[in-house]
Amino acid sequence: MATLAKTDQDYSVLPHMPDDVFTAPLKRPEHVGEDWLEPAQTVYDGEDDAIWNDLFARQMEVLPGRAATAFLKGLERLDLSRGGVPEFARLSAELEPMTGWSVVPVPMLIPDHVFFWHLANRRFPAGNFIRTRETFDYIQEPDVFHDVFGHVPMLTDPVYADYMYEYGKAGWNAMRYNRLKALGALYWYTVEFGLIEEADGIRAYGAGILSGPTEAVFAVEAESPNRIMLNVDRVMRTDYVISDLQPTYFVIESFEDLYRQTVERDFERLYRNLPPSFTYANSAIIDVDNLVHRGTQEYLLRGGRGSGAAPV
Ligand SMILES: [Fe+2]
Repeated sequence: MATLAKTDQDYSVLPHMPDDVFTAPLKRPEHVGEDWLEPAQTVYDGEDDAIWNDLFARQMEVLPGRAATAFLKGLERLDLSRGGVPEFARLSAELEPMTGWSVVPVPMLIPDHVFFWHLANRRFPAGNFIRTRETFDYIQEPDVFHDVFGHVPMLTDPVYADYMYEYGKAGWNAMRYNRLKALGALYWYTVEFGLIEEADGIRAYGAGILSGPTEAVFAVEAESPNRIMLNVDRVMRTDYVISDLQPTYFVIESFEDLYRQTVERDFERLYRNLPPSFTYANSAIIDVDNLVHRGTQEYLLRGGRGSGAAPV
């Protein structure tokens, strides 16, 4: 059976990138090597730690009852409330016995193929820098708060941790088929903005939702956005917005369901059939959708973030 990831590739060293595969032209800082790893995590000062603590406290006001159980458990298991920006070495020492993952420091953005390679080795690359008071409420580049608070607790869940590992291997395969955009949509609607159906309601497991106070409420409770059960073929054909709240969220039944839908299927066939650009707008509802909630799209219709519309 063909799977999401091509299995015969050796990922112990960074694989050679075929010349015909496009990668974004990012300029590598002189002090990092081909793996883009920082030699050490930044030494944070008291103000950095205070920013972390304030961001943490703000999220904990909105996340209980809205964040996935697996995420809240992960926060506790890693003792992320102990105060100050966490040390990656300590986090890795705690994570490794649970699911084999570690957390490694990188400059803010790294090339896709290097990112995938780290995931395929169960290393999560986390941004080294932390936002300032001026960018406290909204920052487009992922900082250490988004990466560590948002992503790392989920890596304590064994099934989710395996999904991320498979995703890394799948990234290389998608590049060979020139289908990175489609695989990027899958990441967006699961790892960053995914929702899960739990016994007492919908909860968020996506890091983009969990690391911001507005979207945590909007994604789970607002009338505006659509909530649709995840269908991988459909999601990989769906456009997404990167600088505003999402018009649509996709819901999984469980992490086993996510794993089954992605890893245990014939992606090579899907890649061959996918059109080069997205088919569906990010607010669209289509015939095959299994709808949890039909959004009013009021927030979007009022003009979204730039207009100052209320996220309702
Ligand atoms: Fe992220």
